[in-house]
Parts: sequence; C-alpha cells; structure tokens
Amino acid sequence: MSAPTVPNGRTGFRGNGPSYQDLLDLDSKPVPASLRRDEPGYFGDADIPVERYLSREFHELEKARLWSRVWQLACREEVLAEVGDTEIYDICDTSILLVRAEPGPDGIKAYYNACLHRGRALRDERGHVDELLCAFHGFCWSLNGRLKRVPSAWDFPQVKPGKFQLPEVRTGTWGGFVFVNMDPDCEPLEDFLGELPAFFDRWPLEDRYTRVHISKVLKVNWKVAQEAFMESFHVITTHPQLLPGFADANSQYDVFGNVSRAVSARGVPSPYLSWAPDEQQRLNSQIDQRMDDPPILEVPAGSTARKTLAQAARRSLGSVVDPAYVESLTDAELVDSYYMTVFPNMHPWGGFNQITYRFRPYRDDHQSCIMDVLLLSPFQGRRPPPATERRLSSDEPWRGAVDELGSLARVFDQDEFNLEAVQKGLRTTRKAGVSFSVYQESKIRHFHHLLDRWLSDPPAEDDRHLSGGPAGFAAWRVKKKVAPWLTVPSAQVRPLCRSTIWRTLARPMPVPENSRVLCRRWNGWNSLCAYAGSKPAPLSRT
Ligand code: FES
Ligand SMILES: [Fe+2]
Repeated sequence: MSAPTVPNGRTGFRGNGPSYQDLLDLDSKPVPASLRRDEPGYFGDADIPVERYLSREFHELEKARLWSRVWQLACREEVLAEVGDTEIYDICDTSILLVRAEPGPDGIKAYYNACLHRGRALRDERGHVDELLCAFHGFCWSLNGRLKRVPSAWDFPQVKPGKFQLPEVRTGTWGGFVFVNMDPDCEPLEDFLGELPAFFDRWPLEDRYTRVHISKVLKVNWKVAQEAFMESFHVITTHPQLLPGFADANSQYDVFGNVSRAVSARGVPSPYLSWAPDEQQRLNSQIDQRMDDPPILEVPAGSTARKTLAQAARRSLGSVVDPAYVESLTDAELVDSYYMTVFPNMHPWGGFNQITYRFRPYRDDHQSCIMDVLLLSPFQGRRPPPATERRLSSDEPWRGAVDELGSLARVFDQDEFNLEAVQKGLRTTRKAGVSFSVYQESKIRHFHHLLDRWLSDPPAEDDRHLSGGPAGFAAWRVKKKVAPWLTVPSAQVRPLCRSTIWRTLARPMPVPENSRVLCRRWNGWNSLCAYAGSKPAPLSRT
C-alpha cells in the first residue's frame, strides 16, 4: 500500500478526496483566516482504558478533580436577564443556584444551592424572586447572598449575619453563556477559553436567543454520549442518508488549547460513495427531502448544491440580520458543520448552524447522563424570551421533539441507537481499551489527554488532608485499568498516589505524617500503600 499523501502540503487531513482546505479554495467569498487554520492535534495511538467509562472510582475522581475545579457551562445569560431571575445548574451531587443580583456584566452570582440552616436546596427550579427564601423554615437571604431574616432569631444565638453569607461559586460569561467554577483559585475564564472567542467573532452567539432547549437522560456514561458527537467518522454507518451531500471522510480536525474543532463540508459527496450523486441529490440529502414530497429547494442550472444551500441561508438570514454582513459570509460559514468542543463538555457549533450540546453525569450516577440540545437563533428587534427546557423521557424518541428539532430529531435517534449498545459492549468486552483513530477521532483523544491532566493534577489542599493522622499502615487498591498514569516510576507516583487515594475513595483514611508510598502489583491490581516506619509485610488478600 502506498503511503498517504498530504493534500497541498497541508498538515491535518490524510484521507481520500479533496481536503477541507481544498474546498475552501472554491468558495464564492474571501475565506476568513480562522477557517484557514489547519492545526491537528496528535495524541498518539494508545488505547483509552475502558474502565473510565464504567468505574465508580473514576467517576469519583472526575468529581474531585474535574467538576469541582473546571470552568463549565451552567446556563444562558438571557435566562438571567432581569434582577431576581434564578436558574439551577446541577452537576453530580452539587447543585448551584444562579441569580441575577444586579444589572450589568458582573451582576450574576452563583451560590451553592443549600440553605445554611438545615441544608434544604434554596431553589428547586428556574424562576424569578425578590429574595432567596428557604421553603423549609424561612431563613432568607438577599440576592447578594447576605442573610436578611431568621425566624425565631432569639433561638439562634450562634447565627451572625457575617457568618451566614451564602458561599459563592465563581462565574464568568462568554458568548451569552454563563460559566461557573467551584474552585476559588481557578484561572480566569478568559484564560481557560483561550482562542475560542476569536473563532466566534463572525458568529456572535451572544446575539442569538435560545429558540429550543431539549434535554434527555441517556443510560450511558456521559463520555460515551459526548464522544458520539465529536467526529464525522460514524456518518458512513450511522447516518448513511447524509452521504450524497456530506464530506465525512474529508473532515478537518483541529486543536487549540482547551478547544477542539471539527469541520465537515456539506453539499459535496462523501468519498466513500461508489456512485456519483448529481447536485440535486447532494442537496436533497442535506435538507431531508422526501422522495414523494414536493421539492423544498432546487439547484438552479449551472449552480451547485453547496452554492444553493449558501444562497438559501443568505436569504433566510438576510431577513433577520444586517444584509451587508450576510453578503460577506462565505459559503462555508453558511453551510458547513463546525462543531467545536470546549473542554470538558460544551459543544458550541460555529457558522450558522444553531446547535450547542452539553453532556454531564445525571445526578451522581456514572452510568447515566443528561444531553442538552440548545438551538440558538438570530433575531431582529427585541430579544425573544428564551425557551424553557423540555426534558424528553428516557423512552421517548427524539422524534417526539420533531416540531422543535426538525430533521435533527431523526439524526439524534440514529445516534442514540448506538449509545446503550456501546455502554453494554464496554461492560462485556475483555479488551482493556478503546482504539480511537489517530486523526478522525483526535478530538476525543484531545479530550482524554486533557482529562488525564486534570485527574492527575492533585488539588493543592491534599497534603493538608493527609497530614497528622495516627501512625500506622493503610493500603488501598486502585484498578490498573482505571488510571494507567499511576504506573509511572515511584518517584513521580508518590504525590499522585497520596492524593489519588484520598480523592478516589472519598472516605478519610488516616495516613501518618511523613509516610511513604509504595506502588506494586498485587492480584492484577496496582496497590498503593502508604506506610510509616519500617516497610510493611507484603499484602495479603482481604
Ligand atoms: S432548612 Fe432552610 S430554613 Fe430550615
Ligand atoms: Fe451522529
């Protein structure tokens, strides 16, 4: 077999057919520099351990080291437009209450959603309030988190307003989205997002409104669900109806810090096809044209599916946004699929596709997740009110939301068809890892690369927890497949082990000050042993 060639000397794409950059050369408008960037990430070809989709320990590690410290999408800013608007964002076993406390860019507050009296969640759902009143006994806080009222205050001599300020969670905004971070020492959101805003300069998401918000609980680990929406490699088998007008194998995949990007051209056929669709067939496959329905859109003589799709998009956008701006947009921006990923779980689409996805664990369950689908639309004049979330039941197909999602509903049903089967297969496989492709699934590899970094980075406070325990010996077993980075040489593993023990098991184990850590094989597991004094006897099976 001959070695693959590099089209036009560019770096990322190695498959058949024209590269995405080649297709941009044919655009009817000047192409912006951000679309010309071709910056693949290379993350090797090692398997990704199966256990990270299955094990409770890995979920606990994600809670302790990822969700508790990373910037994450909480809600749209438009939901918190007026002072007193509230929203709830739940992640694993933590509930966060978002409040518009004041007008202006810094007026959004986020609190742990728990009453400081006996812990009741302060709010149960999105709404509008003048103050934060607990429904149980009536403790009450201002929107700024200051204690306002205590029923029977005479009976609470220990409750001082200064001590009963609601603990805050950090917030930030970008693109009309509100992000939260539970780590008070986290890096600024702007640093975390890096170049992301620059990619959306031409497609400002803050100027859109939430036309649709559909969510569904899926019975799979959140990463299984998310990864089904991070590549076009599955289109050939999962969505074959798209192939006449979807350049799946020519897709481009890039990495920019905490952000990754995939771009798939539409209106041009898949290189996998063994026949040559004409321009109308290419177009029909992208607009869900049924054979027995009257034509929705026809390719004019001498034109192409791609140009026809672009012109149709210009016509419909021109009625709601500045026509001069619409005229400046390339065919690519109007037609193609730019699906970005912001680590760890947000997927805002670029161009004029309206999708933003979010995937996260459902409650504190590592075997189910919530998939949110937002459709963000441009508008003219006064901002329409944002859609309220509609939660599909687990046995309800996405087609149940066809009025809101259109042809996407059928596509999501095709995607979901695989998901539980993946989770089932991962439980039953005797293979230790998932074998992602190097390029076409590089967005997923990039995600795991970042996840590894977050999970292996011990929180600063760990040593505080580990010091001062009674002298003695404690050993814990960490399954090798869960975290292969634990098998690095002992000089490096020591700080990882100490905090991993603590964080993974989520129960306090006394470890003596100045203890040492052993890392050794035992019954197919890696055993992490903290000990003080002389080296302990070999482990026995417990
Ligand atoms: S639990 Fe909130 S007032 Fe008692
Ligand atoms: Fe799909």
